[in-house]
Amino acid sequence: MDRPLRPGRRPLVAGNWKMHGLRKELVEVEKICAEAAAGGADGAEIVLCLPATLLGAAAPICAGAGVGLGGQHCHNEPSGPFTGDISAEMLKDAGASYVILGHSERRTGHHEGDESVRDKANGAFRAGLRAIVCVGETRAEREAGDALPVVASQLAGSIPITSTPESLVIAYEPVWAIGTGLTPTLSDIAGMHRFIRERIDAHLPGMGHGMRILYGGSVKPGNAAELMGVSNVDGALVGGASLSARDFMGIAGVYRHFCDAGPA
Ligand code: PGA
Repeated sequence: MDRPLRPGRRPLVAGNWKMHGLRKELVEVEKICAEAAAGGADGAEIVLCLPATLLGAAAPICAGAGVGLGGQHCHNEPSGPFTGDISAEMLKDAGASYVILGHSERRTGHHEGDESVRDKANGAFRAGLRAIVCVGETRAEREAGDALPVVASQLAGSIPITSTPESLVIAYEPVWAIGTGLTPTLSDIAGMHRFIRERIDAHLPGMGHGMRILYGGSVKPGNAAELMGVSNVDGALVGGASLSARDFMGIAGVYRHFCDAGPA
């Protein structure tokens, strides 16, 4: 296992609040920002992917603390007759710099396929947002020995050909690990992240080394150090634990300790 501060890839810890959060929960955003501004995740980039309804109110809180904001999905078009949808331009206008795309809860609950994820990623790039594109196998696919081909096919279908390490982040999130308290073995994570980096290089020659690949699925303060220490893991996409400033900064804080330990 090597240390997670790798030249050219700044670690990223992104919180995914999903459909949680009223204005009163902005107090957690304030706490995260206060801790981040005080160096709580030194060396790592912190992004909060909040419900779209909170982005505008969170923007002035996050601005001074160096904490980024993100949306959780977007339409591929910039505007139009799409009732209930939100465009990448709207997210950007509300203060976002990132957007999560292709999360398994969108792939399953909203029937978003790879092609649709790719179109939305192109929309994000057009608006100047960075896309965090999620991939990951189900329990049945893993048990059938199909985890690698499933992820390879999601990558091939979901990643725009114009992607760069500046515009795209990949999040590997095994569906069976999301919200369950289960995580793959460290060696399974290492194998999958190495494989994803190779696949990125195959699709986007020369881009594999610089692309950040996050692990997501039941990341908690108690397992963050070992998960973030796995080779080719460049940070975390955090669901449940990102709703609490204490837990989220407990995860992001592993990078402060890695930094304190000196360069790898
Ligand atoms: P979890 O969710 O951390 O609650 O498992 C991760 C995600 O869905 O991004």
